[in-house]
Amino acid sequence: MKLSLINIILSGLLAIVVISSWMLRVDYTQPNFEILPDMKYSTAWNAYAPNPHFPNGRTLQSPVFGTIARGELPLHYEATKEDAIRAGEELINPHGQITTAEKIESTASEDDSEQAVSLQEKLKADREESSKQYQASVTRGGELYRVFCNCCHGATGKGDGMVPQRGFPPPPSMLTGKSVQMKDGQLFHILTYGQGSMSEMATQVSPDERWDLINYVRSLQAKAPPIENTPDPKPEAELESKPEQDGGKTE
Ligand code: HEC
Repeated sequence: MKLSLINIILSGLLAIVVISSWMLRVDYTQPNFEILPDMKYSTAWNAYAPNPHFPNGRTLQSPVFGTIARGELPLHYEATKEDAIRAGEELINPHGQITTAEKIESTASEDDSEQAVSLQEKLKADREESSKQYQASVTRGGELYRVFCNCCHGATGKGDGMVPQRGFPPPPSMLTGKSVQMKDGQLFHILTYGQGSMSEMATQVSPDERWDLINYVRSLQAKAPPIENTPDPKPEAELESKPEQDGGKTE
């Protein structure tokens, strides 16, 4: 076999590669040589990295005392009847129907200048949008109602759900009872803190969902015929003292 010059050079190069890689002996457990390291390490501190700039030595600091997370407004109420009424006066349904636009429109309609006409168009669009959002809220509330309230209050809100039919103290009808007169905020208080034999629903439905439920209850009340043929709701005192009054019925 005849060795050409090129073969000799290639064998020499191979020998150099093998010997130099044996001499360097790269440790694969260690990071390799880094080119442009600032691409790899950002100047921002990692959330859980130690940090010499804070007295407690941490990067991630706890929120300042009294911080309120977005959408998590605290409620300053007690589970009492007085506070339920106060909630009715103070709380505003964020998903409620907007009626102020109508008022502005009626005053604007007397003026037919270009500016007034464009304002009127804008208000009309706003009202359509808010009524769309209100309908969406009622739909969401309906789904939640079927999951969380049907069993006691019944599909139409009369208070004839399956649970009272099996002996639980029946809730008053939401179509004729006090809840028709109650303001949205008071209903919100009832859902948040409970009332009488109804337990609080705050652990099951978020604040937003509670307002959706209230809008749905309002839609049930609006659909109900003006004179309902349901029996009068039993007085509260009677409900509390004799919780199993219907338990023994056989019919
Ligand atoms: C375990 C059965 C039960 C469930 C579930 C339940 N409720 Fe009630 N609810 C009651 C009872 C009983 C009362 C009457 C409480 C009282 O005043 O003694 C009541 C009262 C109410 C009232 C006040 C009515 C009035 O005239 O005072 C409203 C409003 C109401 N519930 C809404 C709801 C909504 C909305 C849901 C679903 C998120 C719900 N409830 C889930 C049993 C229930």
